[in-house]
Amino acid sequence: MDLKERLSELKKDALAEITNVDDLKKINDIRVKLLGKKGPITEVLRGMRDVPADQRPRIGSFANTVRDELTRALAARKEKLEIIKTAKKLEKEKIDVTLPGVAVKVGQPHIIEQVIAQIEKLFLGMGYQIVDGPEIEEDHYNFEMMNLPKDHPARDMQDTFYITDQILMRTQTSPVQARTMEKHDFTKGPLKMISPGKVYRRDTDDATHSHQFHQVEGLVIDKHVTMADLKGTLQTLARTIFGEKREIRLRPSYFPFTEPSVEVDVSCFKCDGQGCAVCKQTGWIEVLGAGMVHPNVLKMAGIDADVYGGFAFGLGPDRFAMLKYGVDDIREFYLNDVRFLQQFSQKG
Ligand code: PHE
Repeated sequence: MDLKERLSELKKDALAEITNVDDLKKINDIRVKLLGKKGPITEVLRGMRDVPADQRPRIGSFANTVRDELTRALAARKEKLEIIKTAKKLEKEKIDVTLPGVAVKVGQPHIIEQVIAQIEKLFLGMGYQIVDGPEIEEDHYNFEMMNLPKDHPARDMQDTFYITDQILMRTQTSPVQARTMEKHDFTKGPLKMISPGKVYRRDTDDATHSHQFHQVEGLVIDKHVTMADLKGTLQTLARTIFGEKREIRLRPSYFPFTEPSVEVDVSCFKCDGQGCAVCKQTGWIEVLGAGMVHPNVLKMAGIDADVYGGFAFGLGPDRFAMLKYGVDDIREFYLNDVRFLQQFSQKG
């Protein structure tokens, strides 16, 4: 076989190899193998020594053609493999924009927070300020300033978690009123406030008791505040929470910090006062406690009880939510089972 034939043979094998390669990384190896210094073409050309001088140009130029052809074939194959690679990648990364998306779970304020927010909005609109206070409180603010000296029997109404003799978990949000009254400058105007927040009592948890629950207390102090103001305010509150048609009634009661004190009932929103299971056939549901601020409370806060007076009320958002949404176990609010909480989505 002369050199030219060997070259032709070589070309045929090489082209077949190039066509068959399907790995981009191998293209370079093949180039080195075929066209490199130790490759077959170089090898063949080394045999030129034995070729008669007049035939050398012809074979030399044929060898160059073969080299060029293989170089082009390698480049073409490389390009092809690159296109395939890109196509595969695109195929793999393809996004079907018509597929339904994964729904993002959106949270919402806890139902108790929602009730508190509703109450806050109402009272802000009536010119009240919202005041926060510590949950770990001094006995002085929680009890003494509320006209409940040590050993007062009415302290039994609020079983207390004491931390020390003087420090406790607040049993009501009244201490926030005490702290605010003490600081208020009455030359600048009346005091109108609500204090929403968590409170704690040493109760055994059951369907209607929780050692932690919420209160929103309200306080108004000014000259000439009457019980009619209290009643009108609570009427508005009852209608905002329980519906436009609600009436309220006041029943005499006792709290150490108010005199007179009242228990407030709202006409049943389930049966419109006709009598049903929710109102235990009475047509009325007890919703909060209230009264005219006791002069002792004013005096202890440094307020002249002969000039100023006011009303106070205290309600439980937990109880409001239980009544309004028919929740029969207060513990549900604190278990944080998402299936329970989701029912009160604000979306509707
Ligand atoms: N703090 C009282 C309680 O927890 C509620 C209340 C406040 C009652 C204001 C009357 C007036 O019992």
